[in-house]
Parts: sequence; C-alpha cells; structure tokens
Amino acid sequence: MIAGVERIAFHIHGDDRGSLIAIESNADVPFSICRVYYIFNTCPTAVRGKHAHKDLKQVLVCVHGSCDILLDNGYEQQTVHLSEQDAGVYIYGYIWREMLNFSDDCVLLTLVNRPYSKADYVFDYDYFCATARNHAVE
Ligand code: TYD
Repeated sequence: MIAGVERIAFHIHGDDRGSLIAIESNADVPFSICRVYYIFNTCPTAVRGKHAHKDLKQVLVCVHGSCDILLDNGYEQQTVHLSEQDAGVYIYGYIWREMLNFSDDCVLLTLVNRPYSKADYVFDYDYFCATARNHAVE
C-alpha cells in the first residue's frame, strides 16, 4: 500500500450458522471509534469522496457488494478493490481519496476517530498536492 494507508484483515468468527466480524476500538482498529457512517444506494457512475482530511483516521470496509477506493498521497496513487467483508483499508496519512465503481448492492462502512468537521476537509486537489510535502507520514 502507499505510505499513509494500510490494509487490515478482520477476524471472521465463523460456525455452521454463518459468519460474524466484531470490530473493537484500539484492538481491531488502531484508534478509538468516534463516528460510524455507511454509504449505500450509490449511483453506479458516482464518484464520492474527492477530498483529503487534515487530521483524521478512518477504516473503510465494504460490508456488501464492491467498490474501488482511489488513494493518493501526493507522490503515489493506488486503487484498491474492496469486495470482501473481512478486508479493511486504514487511512491515517494525508491522503486524497475517491470512491467509485460502486456495485448496485454496495454498502461501504466507515469507522472514524473524530466527529464530523467540515473544517478538517481539503477539497482542492491542487492545494492538496502543494501541501502534501509538508505532511510526513508516521
Ligand atoms: P460527503 O462528505 O459529500 O460524503 P462523501 O465524502 O462520502 O462523498 O457527505 C454527504 C453529506 O453527509 C454531507 O451533507 C455531509 C453529511 N455528513 C455528515 O453529516 N456526517 C458525516 O459524518 C459525513 C461523512 C457526512
């Protein structure tokens, strides 16, 4: 994965009834979960996101269907296809992200470490590229 992003593989508790994935703060994801939202009924041609965050950690999980996540740290780009319920994408760096190619049945779950704040968003891609060099990835 590009710098600022990691994959997370969640443990599946499976038995003859089916499967269950549990996600706990600071255990299954490396932060305290403050906010949860999910995207569904997405127009197949829609491109969501198209922004970076100044200071945010989040994990994306496609809990149904599939979609692509375009990730860009100002130096490298990568597109991740999400279609497995046990696969998470952990975004912790200064990363431009776009979500696209949603299947009709896609439900994209996002777990976040902070409350919603419009002030944390960067919507201008040129500004993002210009400022990416100032954001060292831990
Ligand atoms: P938006 O930021 O456009 O979603 P995306 O980045 O996935 O394309 O959000 C759509 C609307 O939902 C917008 O009016 C803001 C609102 N919203 C909240 O109220 N809380 C949230 O946590 C998020 C992510 C969005």
